[in-house]
Amino acid sequence: MSEIKTLGIVGAGQMGNGIAQVAAGIGLQVIMVDLNPQACVKGLATINKSLSRFVRKEKMTQEQADQVAARVSTSSDLEALAKADLVVEAIIENEAIKLDLFAKLDAICPEHVILASNTSSISITRIAAATKRPDRVVGMHFMNPVPIMKLVEIIRGIATSDETFAATDELAKRMGKVVSGSKDFPGFIVNRILLPMINEAFYTLYEGIGSAEDIDNAMKFGTNAPMGPLALADFIGLDTCLAIARVLHEGLGDAKYRPCPLLIQYVDAGWYGRKSGRGVYDYSEG
Ligand code: CAA
Repeated sequence: MSEIKTLGIVGAGQMGNGIAQVAAGIGLQVIMVDLNPQACVKGLATINKSLSRFVRKEKMTQEQADQVAARVSTSSDLEALAKADLVVEAIIENEAIKLDLFAKLDAICPEHVILASNTSSISITRIAAATKRPDRVVGMHFMNPVPIMKLVEIIRGIATSDETFAATDELAKRMGKVVSGSKDFPGFIVNRILLPMINEAFYTLYEGIGSAEDIDNAMKFGTNAPMGPLALADFIGLDTCLAIARVLHEGLGDAKYRPCPLLIQYVDAGWYGRKSGRGVYDYSEG
């Protein structure tokens, strides 16, 4: 496997721009593609904002931050990824859209290139089957916020080769991350455990056992978590939480995973969390 010097990323949103920042931070050239040019502009602004936090904290100089930002180029044309040595997909959690994208990437990228997905719960085996290189398709699941969170889950689809796993593992470690390997079953490891906890927090709220603040304070200060489960759900996005909860429920077929009706109702209302200004909590004041 040749050395990875140029990383391609599809999706300039929360996860895509975070991955771009960390990759550029270890000296890789990054091509970040988003079909929406405005999303590229916003993605670059987020990278600069995050880098300036590191400068403020004296974890890097302004000059270093400028060099990192300069290594990220953007495009709204997937063909730009023909030059990438490895591509990470970080688009919306919609299986049909991902399958279509992987078929396109398979046609654009040279045969040896690994195609990784940052999916939080969609089957890597099914994504791989949309390509003619299922042995070179792998899950590379970063956590939000990517520049801060240490973990990358690496998921082996049924056809993922050992060589692909090893190259992805090496890249994640170069990016300063801790790796957990996971088999390709619903929710992998993190969301198999995290989502039932978040869902249970919604049931606790739904059944009136405590207020949102009671529930979050109980878990934040009672278990030393950085934020309570409802605040974390707002941070992840309630639509994403519900999508993952549904994957667990359908994929594992056990009633214990059924999504809480209150979570479904919030999503129906467009209350997606921080990104929409309203979730369990109100963010309209910024
Ligand atoms: N870029 C750069 N620095 C950042 C940052 C970013 N995007 N976000 C936070 N920081 C830094 C802050 O500057 C601060 O730095 P210092 O410690 O040096 O002061 C530090 O991180 C802490 O940030 P804040 O003081 O603003 O606030 P906080 O203490 O509440 O931390 C948080 C924020 C890091 C998000 C923390 O609340 C946290 O760890 N929350 C849990 C996050 C989590 O669990 N993420 C995983 C979600 S699951 C997932 O992503 C997978 C999935 O599939 C759903």
